[in-house]
Amino acid sequence: MVIASLGFLVITLSALITSSNADTECSSICPDIYQPLCAVMGNNMQTFGNSCVLGVRNKCSGENWVVISNYACNFSIVNGRIIKKN
Ligand SMILES: *[C@@H]1O[C@H](CO)[C@@H](O)[C@H](O)[C@H]1NC(C)=O
Repeated sequence: MVIASLGFLVITLSALITSSNADTECSSICPDIYQPLCAVMGNNMQTFGNSCVLGVRNKCSGENWVVISNYACNFSIVNGRIIKKN
């Protein structure tokens, strides 16, 4: 009896821990500040509103956006190379 209830408790606790991790990682609320970053992933380029938004995106999507500038994107990707726009 005692052992059976302990097992139940452990399962309940681990379920709680798992769901709270998911909450902090993937429902993260980022500060509503505009400190744009430009990031690339493969041949895609995107401006993120701030580094928190980018971090959440990487963590929660499994994507790997890499920051290339701490301002909004003003580059083009041409033949896989990052070129400054004029
Ligand atoms: C890109 O944007 C940055 C920040 O606004 C600016 O300093 C830089 O001159 C821009 N570069 C070009 C090529 O427009």
